[in-house]
Amino acid sequence: MKVKLKVKRSNPETGDSSYSKYEIETENSVTLLDALIQVREYEDGTLALRCSCRSAICGSCSMRVDGRARLACRAKVIALTRDNPEHEIVVEPMGNMPVIKDLVNDMESFWSKMRQVDPYIKPEGPTPEAEFRVPNEAMIDLTHVMNCIMCGACVSDCTVLEVDKNFIAPAALAKAYRATADPRDDHEHDRLEKLSEYGGIWDCTRCNMCVEVCPKGVAPMNRIMQLREMALEAGIKGNAGARHTGIFTKSIEDGGRLNEIWMVPGSVGMFNVPRMMKEMPGALKMLRAGKLPIGQVIPPGFPGSHKMHGMDRVRNVVRKSASLKPVKAEVKAHDA
Ligand code: FES
Repeated sequence: MKVKLKVKRSNPETGDSSYSKYEIETENSVTLLDALIQVREYEDGTLALRCSCRSAICGSCSMRVDGRARLACRAKVIALTRDNPEHEIVVEPMGNMPVIKDLVNDMESFWSKMRQVDPYIKPEGPTPEAEFRVPNEAMIDLTHVMNCIMCGACVSDCTVLEVDKNFIAPAALAKAYRATADPRDDHEHDRLEKLSEYGGIWDCTRCNMCVEVCPKGVAPMNRIMQLREMALEAGIKGNAGARHTGIFTKSIEDGGRLNEIWMVPGSVGMFNVPRMMKEMPGALKMLRAGKLPIGQVIPPGFPGSHKMHGMDRVRNVVRKSASLKPVKAEVKAHDA
């Protein structure tokens, strides 16, 4: 089959950046990585790319393909051109990380964020002679996150990291979950406190991009949500994210709908004047658009606050979802 490629070429040393087009004849069964290697071997020896296992295991061939991060060794060209055999596959380096050359990213920021979360289990107390033993069921939840191959796809397409480089980002937060939720770790509270700070679990906007692009089903955003639940369960609530969740839940539990009027004061704190002033233009816009119903001016939980019909059913849903909170498994035996 004929494959058309449009590859982003960058040379940060000179600052040059452009696209090179290639058209190659190849087998139907090839992956995008095979096609790129063919280009490098027979068409253009200057093309830089990174790969190793060619089996979706090592995580080194992550790049943007037609606008989203993927493993090149897992993407079949026939699938990429299924809808249109003439389709020109656009290949670019990952986002959110500097480019060394062409399709090769500098992953130092990825690794430094990984180090930032202490991505290893820290047990306290006596070390067993043989091994720690944990119940099988305690590890089932962790198997998804243990599948991470550190390819960086989730980091590449993270929309929060794009605007705030301080965000720890999905890969490291998923790894933090792996250590925090492991029954052998004894630093859950410290970890959750640290992860609740600026740049941590409460800064995720739940755009779901990391879930969509992860080639291994780690679903980092879901792990971030689990960390939030754990932080709330641990009583770590002195931050805007936890307060936002609190006022949101209270609002639904009390009146059956979101009380927009009290979301900002409830999240940032009524007496946080600078922040309240910052939110004022947005509040005025919402008021003009009819999104701040005056009927809800009484805060949730106070006498006279707005209530929908059928509140029993709403409260039932809230109660049921509260009972689904994750519970960290106990280490059943410390020794083999
Ligand atoms: Fe190892 Fe693609 S080359 S994951």
